[in-house]
Amino acid sequence: MTARRNRQWLLAKRPVGMVSAANFEFRDVPAPMPGADEVLVKILYLAFDPAMRGWMEDRPSYIPPVALGDVMRGAAVGQVVASNDASLPVGSHVSGFFGWQEYAIAKRGGALPIAEDTELTWPISVLGITGLTAYFGMLEIGKPQPGETVVVSGAAGATGSIAAQIARIQGARAIGIAGGAEKCAWLRDVAKLDGAIDYKSEDVGARLSELCPKGIDVFFDNVAGPILEAVIDRIALRARIVLCGGISGYNEKEPPPGPRNLMNLVRQRARMEGLILTDFAPRRAEGTAQLTAWLREGKLAHREDIQVGGIENAPRTFLRLFSGENLGKQLLRVGAPEETR
Ligand SMILES: NC(=O)c1ccc[n+]([C@@H]2O[C@H](COP(=O)([O-])OP(=O)(O)OC[C@H]3O[C@@H](n4cnc5c(N)ncnc54)[C@H](OP(=O)(O)O)[C@@H]3O)[C@@H](O)[C@H]2O)c1
Repeated sequence: MTARRNRQWLLAKRPVGMVSAANFEFRDVPAPMPGADEVLVKILYLAFDPAMRGWMEDRPSYIPPVALGDVMRGAAVGQVVASNDASLPVGSHVSGFFGWQEYAIAKRGGALPIAEDTELTWPISVLGITGLTAYFGMLEIGKPQPGETVVVSGAAGATGSIAAQIARIQGARAIGIAGGAEKCAWLRDVAKLDGAIDYKSEDVGARLSELCPKGIDVFFDNVAGPILEAVIDRIALRARIVLCGGISGYNEKEPPPGPRNLMNLVRQRARMEGLILTDFAPRRAEGTAQLTAWLREGKLAHREDIQVGGIENAPRTFLRLFSGENLGKQLLRVGAPEETR
């Protein structure tokens, strides 16, 4: 067999303002061989998360930044193609933070086996970071009650779409805010939400007043900025705001000013709480089991936007998250499985 090559993307330059392909450098090197207790993983699918934009910056956060010259960090699923770990035989499928490359070495514990009856991409989509964030954020911080009104921003995305449907499953009225008619139609027709607002063509405040006449009891925010302000204007007594993300400001050179109407939270005795998924890591199995059950029962719809073209397309695929081109969880098909027997 010819020696394997490993094409990879390194972080070359820290972004200032809008991230671009120029922040990364492409490299072609020999694939490594696994050492003791290690496996070599051939990456099949790579997942993209807006949080990667934050990992590229050198500032204190919940995980260290990606170092300049390192392979860009990213969750992936792949196939074990060489193994020195008896628990992960050649041919088995695994998930882990394998990075933007074609092959990765995983140490023991760094590659999690994927159950035979699970779709290959689910551990990095609906059962991965985004699905679990939606699950724990909505249930543990939002705590929607039957009959309450729940609003989700970024609602057609990987996290928002699951969060909004979990609110609906709990018996709440779920309203999604997303960009464009196609995404809003999906929210109403497929995700079965009670309403959808196209923030790109509609007056968000006016539509919220119309769809939420008794105010908003839970807001799951992925976007921040003017949408958060419009929701705070209409927040209900003892409401909960789950601060999951603020993608509208991720590529701004200066942090955008906060909402000007925070005093409304005082008047309404409302709570706003930040969410970081890693706090719920010990409960991953519970979240995965419940999401899987809802998927199998047909209660939860999800979609994956799988780009093709191999690892060359990693930066271009990542940028789709910030233009809103992605329809659901943004993935990239990196390679095909090897024949192992
Ligand atoms: N706290 C945590 O632990 C945690 C974990 C996972 C994700 N998150 C956060 O959850 C949010 C969604 O992440 P995701 O992975 O599920 O991505 P996603 O929603 O699948 O994709 C990003 C979406 O954001 C929207 N967007 C992009 N730029 C925007 C802007 N300037 N203003 C308004 N909307 C914009 C686009 O949808 P439209 O077409 O609708 O604009 C785009 O499709 C992000 O804020 C992310 O940081 C947090």
